[in-house]
Amino acid sequence: MPTRAFFSTLIYSARLQAAGLPRFNDDLAGACALVRENDLAGRRWSEKNYRGGYTSYASLPRLHRMSSVFATLERKLLVHVCRFARLLDLDLRGRKVFMTDCWVNIMPEGASHSLHLHPMSFVSGTYYVRTPPGCAQLKFEDPRLDRFMAAPPRRANARACNRQFVAYPAKAGHLTLFESWLRHQVSTNQTEQERISISFNYNWS
Ligand SMILES: [Fe+2]
Repeated sequence: MPTRAFFSTLIYSARLQAAGLPRFNDDLAGACALVRENDLAGRRWSEKNYRGGYTSYASLPRLHRMSSVFATLERKLLVHVCRFARLLDLDLRGRKVFMTDCWVNIMPEGASHSLHLHPMSFVSGTYYVRTPPGCAQLKFEDPRLDRFMAAPPRRANARACNRQFVAYPAKAGHLTLFESWLRHQVSTNQTEQERISISFNYNWS
């Protein structure tokens, strides 16, 4: 082939563990509901900044240090984050990778989350706890979108590697990891049931 691909953008998607997920997700869903119930500041913040939904992002962003079920999730996620870091060829010899933030997102019908990235971390992601059939996907944007200048539009059937947007279905028991600079959004949840996810950031030292 005369052409090779460089500067790749990797997105990691995997099941958290082989077995035992329904019970673990029940525990997490209960913990998420409890967080929302007790987080008045977060509910108020969400009214203004997370239309129609609830997030503990601004009020309780370190749940892995507050509750054992979130701490368990932290341990399980670390395995995947380290695997993703290896796929990125990051040199972490003698360095430590650790979760800095972990927060709940509850999206009832009509809630959405506009385009954003995750500052102050190198790997971010989301773990799905409750995903009603047909609920909103996680949509990523080509990080070079502002540099295409005079490029013609892409074909409707463009290969995945050449598309400017890619959407990952939200699937309970699965996680999605990406480099924290990669912009993404969650479109409107059009199902009647709540879509529950837990987002997180990792840093290194
Ligand atoms: Fe995000």
